[in-house]
Amino acid sequence: MNAKLSFFLITTAILALGLLGVCHGGPLKQNYYKHTCPQALKIVRKVTWKHVAQDLTVAAPLLRLHFHDCFVRGCDASVLLESTASNKAEKDAFPDLTLGGFDVIADIKAALEKKCPGVVSCADIVALAARDSVAFQYKRSLWKVLLGRRDGTVSHMQEVLVNIPPPSFNFTQLKHLFASKGLNVHDLVVLSGAHTIGDSHCFSFDNRLYNFTGKGYGQDPTLNPIYAEYLKRKCKSLSDVTTTLGMDPRSSLSFDTHYYKMLLQKKGLFQSDVALLTDKEAYEDVLKMLYTRNFFAAFGPSIRRMGYVQVLTGTEGEIRRNCSVVNS
Ligand code: HEM
Ligand SMILES: *[C@@H]1O[C@H](CO)[C@@H](O)[C@H](O)[C@H]1NC(C)=O
Ligand SMILES: *[C@@H]1O[C@H](CO)[C@@H](O)[C@H](O)[C@H]1NC(C)=O
Ligand SMILES: *[C@@H]1O[C@H](CO)[C@@H](O)[C@H](O)[C@H]1NC(C)=O
Repeated sequence: MNAKLSFFLITTAILALGLLGVCHGGPLKQNYYKHTCPQALKIVRKVTWKHVAQDLTVAAPLLRLHFHDCFVRGCDASVLLESTASNKAEKDAFPDLTLGGFDVIADIKAALEKKCPGVVSCADIVALAARDSVAFQYKRSLWKVLLGRRDGTVSHMQEVLVNIPPPSFNFTQLKHLFASKGLNVHDLVVLSGAHTIGDSHCFSFDNRLYNFTGKGYGQDPTLNPIYAEYLKRKCKSLSDVTTTLGMDPRSSLSFDTHYYKMLLQKKGLFQSDVALLTDKEAYEDVLKMLYTRNFFAAFGPSIRRMGYVQVLTGTEGEIRRNCSVVNS
């Protein structure tokens, strides 16, 4: 083989591999509904923005819903299914009891079913609503969503506990879980930045205030002591199961880089947040994400990768008519 030919072959091989990498969403595409439901994207945005305009706090639950959907059985809207007489669904698992935004998804679905019945999947709606809820603050989308996901027909409560990370996870545990979804340390750092918006219940972190030893006492020494006092005034005891607070106080409605600033001030709320500082690669990425330009440029690609996880396409699954129940 002459040098020119082998150069050509190698270049072609590299290009092909590169393209495969880029098209990792498989058959998902941006204009999937162009012919079957041309107004789909406008409708989703309109209904989402209507809800967020009425109540700015619904943006965060919609973003989180996409994460909880994708990490359990892939982005197939299994998170939306209600339990039945014979099956406990994901929704009823402990980590999912604090999810929200289901009413918004139902409202979007109703509007879409009116215009183009049986066309737009609930899984795509969840992915779009996550994007649009964040977009409201800026009146522009921060990332593009690839579409064509189909809805699953299975949802099991037990699958949540092994696929949704608890706030107590350390770096190794987070890294392995994300890797099992095809996501790397960079994605972990960037997607954790979603905690720049939204609220947490005291029970998700109060062990760091009152029970760090596991013996009913003790405070996490990695937590900023002044911030710990603030948190203890909000969360008065381990038995408080109702109080919620902004994970990124005073900025919890703003999708910005303040989450990373808090991390560096030892004000990360969950051990899983703090964990990002315990690994060299992750720590260096945290420093990069302090800059809005970097965070915004990175968030889209990472959440798009999350939005590809184990998607159903083609003739797999179904297009649910009602996002809460499988078609009969
Ligand atoms: C890295 C591992 C993660 C852990 C351990 C984790 C854990 C948690 C916990 C414990 C809460 C508070 C629940 C409550 O007490 O009400 C929460 C809230 C939230 N999470 Fe995560 N999360 C992680 C990653 C993500 C990702 C990847 C996203 C989205 C891309 C996300 C988005 C959110 C949002 C927006 C909220 C606020 C929800 C609201 O205001 O209702 N999280 N997370
Ligand atoms: C993380 O947690 C796992 C499971 O509890 C433990 O085996 C491991 O040693 C921990 N890793 C670090 C770095 O603390
Ligand atoms: C403190 O933490 C330990 C270990 O996680 C747990 O078993 C125990 O029930 C907690 N104590 C209280 C009072 O919640
Ligand atoms: C969808 O299903 C749920 C659960 O069965 C039901 O409560 C709701 O009314 C249904 N929505 C529509 C639009 O039919």
